[in-house]
Amino acid sequence: MRGVLAFALLALTGLSSVNADLDWWQTMSVYQIYPRSWKDSDGDGIGDLPGIESKLQHLVDSGIDAFWTSPIYESPMADFGYDIANYTNIDSIFGTLEDFDDLVATAKSLGLKVIMDLVPNHSSDEHQWFTNSLASIDPYTDYYIWKNGTELENGTIVPPNNWVSVFGGYAWSWRSERQAYYLHQFAEEQPDLNYRNEYVVQEMKDIIEFWLDRGVDGFRVDAIPYLYEDESFPDEPLSGTTDSPTNYSYTLHYYTQDQAETYEMVAQWRQLLDDYSFKTDNITRVLMMEAYTNTSQTMKFYDYGANFPFNFGFISNVDGSSTPTEIKELAIDEWLDNVPDNGTSNWVIGNHDQSRVASRYSPEQVDAMNMINLLLPGVSVTYYGEEIGMEDQWISWENTQDPQGCGADEDTYEDYTRDPNRTPMQWDATTSAGFSTSNSTWLPVNSNYLTLNLAAQIDADVSHYKVFQELTTLRKEAVIQEGTVNVQLLNDNVMAFSRELESSSDSIMIVVTNFANHTEMISLEAFENAPDTLVVSIASIDSDLTAGTTVSKSSLEISALAGLVLRASTASGASAVVSSGVITLFMAVLANLRY
Ligand code: GLC
Ligand code: MG
Ligand code: CA
Repeated sequence: MRGVLAFALLALTGLSSVNADLDWWQTMSVYQIYPRSWKDSDGDGIGDLPGIESKLQHLVDSGIDAFWTSPIYESPMADFGYDIANYTNIDSIFGTLEDFDDLVATAKSLGLKVIMDLVPNHSSDEHQWFTNSLASIDPYTDYYIWKNGTELENGTIVPPNNWVSVFGGYAWSWRSERQAYYLHQFAEEQPDLNYRNEYVVQEMKDIIEFWLDRGVDGFRVDAIPYLYEDESFPDEPLSGTTDSPTNYSYTLHYYTQDQAETYEMVAQWRQLLDDYSFKTDNITRVLMMEAYTNTSQTMKFYDYGANFPFNFGFISNVDGSSTPTEIKELAIDEWLDNVPDNGTSNWVIGNHDQSRVASRYSPEQVDAMNMINLLLPGVSVTYYGEEIGMEDQWISWENTQDPQGCGADEDTYEDYTRDPNRTPMQWDATTSAGFSTSNSTWLPVNSNYLTLNLAAQIDADVSHYKVFQELTTLRKEAVIQEGTVNVQLLNDNVMAFSRELESSSDSIMIVVTNFANHTEMISLEAFENAPDTLVVSIASIDSDLTAGTTVSKSSLEISALAGLVLRASTASGASAVVSSGVITLFMAVLANLRY
């Protein structure tokens, strides 16, 4: 009886939010913090943990449920924290373990989940494990992947095979101390760990438990496809796309990526996390995999217990020059058609390794891209600054910090450097955009900060940030958390998708995005269930149509590069007030039923 009533209540209001069948992480909006660049508390020009803690309210205000932070462990910073010298300590640049505990406690009190970056593939060459391995001190001798070189006829020793580093250059470096080469799929300062050594496997499990004990809710797992390499170390086939043997695209990475053992290790970590929640609080701990690989290898992570592998379609397959057909097919359908039936989807439009959305797409497309990211089914992932539409900042070759940029040369570094998308968060129009009290910050603040900043967008009537807030609010509704999805091309320039609850005909919500530089006239007839008139619920900031405007299903105009969220008039604003009255009424009825 109560079930029937609850259903009637849902159908009447279309307003339910939390579905008891969905676990906390399946509907979360995640925010990525790049800790060096988010908030500096001590004026050294580099972000830190007390800084993050002091700004957590921003995440709450933004409708964020969880955040993941790039590495904060002790590190010589050759790859800005992705080279870890001690996995169970915080780097002094960022603070102390105590600061970390405070951060977690404050996050919990605000209802935010905390997700750590786990970097299992490689440590720093300054890790004690590597120092011991270099000196052949057991049990560390085989913690890394050491190989003898190949001796040529003339007596010179060369690397054991043709493997290339992701950052450019050979994946092998010679150490005279051991008279051998060690493998590094990334920078020379990032030696690959040897997962065929059982002690290494155990070390990483102990590290995971260490952070679980400190209260983290899960892990973003770094560079996972590179975990194992083929044991027989064969040369990789040549791609034929470049003549430079030190360019990563010189070879096809059959033997250095996506090995079967990698997935088995993920399954072991899943087991560990599940055992941990079973013996503590029964709350799921998450594993989010960073895997730039093909669709089938990506989806395989679901089978081995990852909560999800990041969906990089909007990063790797399309950009601002793509047509809506390409966006639909390569970024949306490619994912939805291949995600396993019981798999939770996720959408990622930016991170610390990619040019920003405003620069990879265009500043005018920021709102439309956020609509896509936040309103498609499943988890949304937002890189810091994307809620206000931050842009890349050009940085000279002389000032380039990123090893991936420095590994190139003056003529090509701009194709590789990740510095432009890692500049400090633009909080306000004060010194260093409110990021630091210092005028000199580790990367320069974007020169547009006086006008492009959070405070200005909070003050403005219409802003990217306000659109973002409306979108995260909408995400809490049942139609976004549970609704079906239907993607349609309306013409050569306009793509749209609907979200709909089967139980409620007026729940329909339609997102329309115009990829053309001019206004387009469209019809929404492709969405059979849409009513004849709809109301603009959210509009991108330069849109001619603004929120509250009623439009006709058969013909409406959408401005250049705009995004619109349309709803049935009965489902929007005003009816919510009525509905809450209905909820109160039903609650009273339910309460009475108990007697
Ligand atoms: C991942 C990180 C990237 C880092 C690399 C090596 O791809 O996202 O920033 O440089 O792994 O750890
Ligand atoms: Mg600092
Ligand atoms: Ca590896």
